Amino acid sequence: AAIMKGQFDHFMQKEIYEQPESVVNTMRGRVNFDTRSVTLGGLKAYLPVIRRCRRLLFVACGTSYHSCIAVRPVFEELTEIPVAVELASDFLDRRTPVFRDDVAIFVSQSGETADTILAMRYCLERGALCVGVVNTVGSTLSRETHSGVHINAGPEIGVASTKAYTSQYIALVMIALQLSDDSISKEVRRQEIIDGLHDIPAMIKSVLMMDKALQQLAKETLAKEKSLLIMGRGYQYATCLEGALKIKEVSYMHSEGILAGELKHGPLALIDEHLPVIFIMTKDSLYPKVQSALAQVTARKGQPIVICNEDDKTIDPAVRTIRVPSTVDCLQGLINVIPLQLLSYHLAIMNGVDVDFPRNLAKAVTVE
Ligand code: G6P
Repeated sequence: AAIMKGQFDHFMQKEIYEQPESVVNTMRGRVNFDTRSVTLGGLKAYLPVIRRCRRLLFVACGTSYHSCIAVRPVFEELTEIPVAVELASDFLDRRTPVFRDDVAIFVSQSGETADTILAMRYCLERGALCVGVVNTVGSTLSRETHSGVHINAGPEIGVASTKAYTSQYIALVMIALQLSDDSISKEVRRQEIIDGLHDIPAMIKSVLMMDKALQQLAKETLAKEKSLLIMGRGYQYATCLEGALKIKEVSYMHSEGILAGELKHGPLALIDEHLPVIFIMTKDSLYPKVQSALAQVTARKGQPIVICNEDDKTIDPAVRTIRVPSTVDCLQGLINVIPLQLLSYHLAIMNGVDVDFPRNLAKAVTVE
């Protein structure tokens, strides 16, 4: 069937709006919410090997790399295996040591990104078990890896990746859940995460309803700016990187994702009353630390916009907020990225960018 935009003006917009369904498709037949269990058919035969590996090595580019950053903490927590997350190009540049008892996980929407494919072949040659987390069935990465998980997000046309990110994130969380399902000490936490997954589609839907307000916010506070920082830490570091990437890809505005813990090591010098800063400050164990970063910025007359939970009463009412529903800490990034996707879309439209085909970029970069 032809891929159509339907009621939407652009593929990117359609794909952002598809997320309540695409994340369900990622979980369909794999997460059982009644028995609170996860079964990934493509991985089953390899579970004993993966559980015994010396290291989990995640390799990807662009948005796919950010999904790996997003799930690193939950992999470390649930599997207790050392985790490395690598950009494919840099991983190859360094000729990183890889061993037979490593498990390498390659994440790619297209399955055709040259850097990621070369990194996979490099790992295959060194005898590592190679796992693909890919959207496109039959792609080079899904054919050449030993095993894998298709994210089943459906075709993604917009050059800027949106629904693939949320589906990669969920697919990776499912892998962490399955790998740890032999651990009694992790059982309560696993069940909490599985219950959290159940409510993600409805939560994404409720954030999408804020679209008009986000369009207004983009128009009033960001459209005329030259630069934007997005700040957070812990689970939200990936959201900062991914939000900033979306904004630069489709609106051509300079944007940087900043780990709030690094604020005092440099970025603080940029803060004044002009530079817009988005804070990602949903409630988790690092909340007080992000709160203090926010105080640092407001003390220097910065004008932050804060992404926080709906019921957060501690934020100064004079500060602009984007309020989102609250879920389990390690899944909160699935919710927080949605307003950033919508903001980037609206900024692109306001700047007259052909949002589905931004200049100089390609959907799949098939050359090194
Ligand atoms: C290109 C696209 C990005 C994408 C990256 C990785 O740069 O423009 O949107 O995130 O490639 O693509 P992959 O298909 O490997 O996920």
